[in-house]
Amino acid sequence: MYKYLTAILALLGTTTAHCELHQLDTAVEAYLKAQRTGQITGFTSIFDNYTWLGYFENSVKLPIHNNTLAKSLPISHTRTIRDLTLCSTYTEVVVNSTKDPYVIGTQLRFGNHRINRVDSIVTRPGDWLFNITGFAYWTAQENWDTIAVEKRDSRTTIRRAADAYLDLFNNPNTTVPWGTPCVRLEGGLYGDPGPNGTCAVGVPQGVPLTNRRYVIDETVGSVQVLLDFGQSKWPDSHHFRIESGKIRYVHTLTHCGVPNCGLSNGTDGASKK
Ligand SMILES: *[C@@H]1O[C@H](CO)[C@@H](O)[C@H](O)[C@H]1NC(C)=O
Ligand SMILES: *[C@@H]1O[C@H](CO)[C@@H](O)[C@H](O)[C@H]1NC(C)=O
Ligand SMILES: *[C@@H]1O[C@H](CO)[C@@H](O)[C@H](O)[C@H]1NC(C)=O
Ligand SMILES: *[C@@H]1O[C@H](CO)[C@@H](O)[C@H](O)[C@H]1NC(C)=O
Ligand SMILES: *[C@@H]1O[C@H](CO)[C@@H](O)[C@H](O)[C@H]1NC(C)=O
Ligand SMILES: *[C@@H]1O[C@H](CO)[C@@H](O)[C@H](O)[C@H]1NC(C)=O
Ligand SMILES: *[C@@H]1O[C@H](CO)[C@@H](O)[C@H](O)[C@H]1NC(C)=O
Repeated sequence: MYKYLTAILALLGTTTAHCELHQLDTAVEAYLKAQRTGQITGFTSIFDNYTWLGYFENSVKLPIHNNTLAKSLPISHTRTIRDLTLCSTYTEVVVNSTKDPYVIGTQLRFGNHRINRVDSIVTRPGDWLFNITGFAYWTAQENWDTIAVEKRDSRTTIRRAADAYLDLFNNPNTTVPWGTPCVRLEGGLYGDPGPNGTCAVGVPQGVPLTNRRYVIDETVGSVQVLLDFGQSKWPDSHHFRIESGKIRYVHTLTHCGVPNCGLSNGTDGASKK
């Protein structure tokens, strides 16, 4: 009965969720420590096992003790955003290794102030445009710093900008608030046509981007969306930096299970995602 009530309260709580930064930060620290060491006990000790929804890796639910998190990885870069309204976090994780590189994007979600869902996109060589040298270098060059309070966009503005970009893949009439400049880091391919360029270079059509799960952080103008990419429902992350309502950066991670998603590697420009 207690378990049942707690679950109901947690569900009700999602509409009026309130959480505290230190709880989110503690959870992210525990997550990163687990990934660095391959020891997950400290991380699982802050799970809410009453409302636990699972550990997902590339949209597959896996046992908590047998997955990428249970493997010690030499993390070289992280960037985290924190959503106090949805009680969730997103962390970009880079393992800049020549032998065994990874780029991972992980959402943590909370119930009862504890973690109750882990959702990761884990990309490796062979995934969409994967290039660890490119990803590690370019993400470190960018400015995703805190935005001054008076210049911050609202959650609605931030989310609308991301949704417009994502909607464009299935509706060419969508008006997207492109920034100038705007640059995309797709897998490891940067800034086509250049780091000071535009993102308005066209996207394929007839590609629905569905099952969107958001993390929004107004303090850094960022929104990250986990989604199912296209008819094949490839597990995908789109991570945006929005400045004054306009798109400044887009990072994409896509896992397809077949080399480069069965497409050419993007050098011809025709198959751009
Ligand atoms: C939740 O369950 C895991 C085992 O799956 C355990 O390691 C962890 O300590 C539990 N967390 C709490 C807070 O009881
Ligand atoms: C871990 O998962 C892999 C496949 O994902 C499976 O082959 C292996 O048997 C699992 N190991 C354990 C100990 O469950
Ligand atoms: C990977 O990215 C780096 C840095 O942008 C670039 O110099 C290199 O040519 C890329 N490698 C491939 C195979 O595209
Ligand atoms: C990534 O690793 C390569 C090879 O060790 C190194 O040359 C490069 O400087 C590293 N990139 C970053 C951003 O640290
Ligand atoms: C886009 O606009 C054109 C011209 O107004 C219209 O014919 C078309 O149906 C619209 N497409 C969608 C997907 O709304
Ligand atoms: C992009 O713009 C910055 C700042 O104006 C400049 O320092 C840099 O050289 C430019 N990069 C390219 C590749 O044009
Ligand atoms: C990927 O790009 C290289 C050139 O960088 C090209 O030689 C190769 O054929 C491409 N692979 C595919 C599958 O298109």
